Amino acid sequence: MQSVGITGTGSYLPENILTNADLEKIVDTKDDWIASRTGIKERHIAPKEMPVSELCYQAGLRALEDARVAPEEVDLIIVATMTPDYAFPATACLVADRLGAKKAAAFDLEAACTGFIFAIATASQFVATGMYKTVLVIGGETMSKILNWEDRSTCILFGDGAGAAVLQAVQKGFGFLSFELGSDGSGGKLLSQPAGGSKCPASLETVEKNLHTLQMEGREVYKFAVRIMGDVSVKVLEKAGLRKEDVDLFVPHQANTRIIDAAVKRLGISPDKVVINLDKYGNMSAAAIPVALDEAVKAGRLAEGDTIVMVGFGAGLTWGACVLKWTKVGLKA
Ligand code: UT7
Repeated sequence: MQSVGITGTGSYLPENILTNADLEKIVDTKDDWIASRTGIKERHIAPKEMPVSELCYQAGLRALEDARVAPEEVDLIIVATMTPDYAFPATACLVADRLGAKKAAAFDLEAACTGFIFAIATASQFVATGMYKTVLVIGGETMSKILNWEDRSTCILFGDGAGAAVLQAVQKGFGFLSFELGSDGSGGKLLSQPAGGSKCPASLETVEKNLHTLQMEGREVYKFAVRIMGDVSVKVLEKAGLRKEDVDLFVPHQANTRIIDAAVKRLGISPDKVVINLDKYGNMSAAAIPVALDEAVKAGRLAEGDTIVMVGFGAGLTWGACVLKWTKVGLKA
């Protein structure tokens, strides 16, 4: 099997920023409540007319430029999203067209906030087996479009954005060392968008009842997240044959600083190794981890040979993690 790594990253955030103070004018909430319970101070919100494919296109383009790969060289594009432009066609097909990635196969993958981890795990198999040389993986969300802006328990949490990574073959010993993925459908009701699918097709009634918006039992999701983030991080490190002392950078899903703190404590790593940007962006679901990774790379927080753990959780319920030995140097074709 070929070793597979990330040879380029990119991200894109829509310009418009919604602060906690702005939210105070929309729902019965306080900046202090949001900041102390979640760590979030502001989030980016896409304009009404901007679909998720636009965010994904911009992030994808930046990742390709970073990897010095032309769109025509891309073999496969996977978009992880739960806020696609349409139920079909797949957002990945629209992004491929915008990019001019003429030879690329393209599909969407839905594992909610864990989508990016599931997507890189999937993409890496294609490269490891030699079926494809270059895969573009994008996590993008326009969460603002599926929120109930009258529900203070959910609308304060999320934001819009996209992050992307180019996966290619790298030198042996580098790249992805282990993956850990899981799901538990019995917790599906804890976090969902009930209407619009085949179980509950769109109707006047579903719109009136607000069933096209995100519904969440926050406290239950919180308990699950605190347990799973620590567990899966420990497991994925063990699988790679590494110890907590080996971790140079921890890139967790950005939902709540209290959830991240619990995972960091469980793993026993130093807080200065943790990437946190949810104060600026809120929870961007599948976009959270790739945006955090891209920002860490651009801020010079990663050196050749560093060990990264990325870990996420989300609706499904789903969870996933990977260990990555960092190099941006792809093998010559
Ligand atoms: O990517 C996965 C997505 N989901 C998550 O990661 C969510 C995980 N859950 C959480 O992060 C937390 O459960 C929340 C941040 C959503 C909520 O924090 P909490 O500490 O679990 O608060 P709570 O739901 O227990 O609510 C405490 C109180 C309630 O009032 P009472 O019943 O104690 O009088 C809520 O009504 O806070 C109230 N509340 C608010 N107050 C001001 C709920 N939302 C707000 C708000 N502003 N925005």
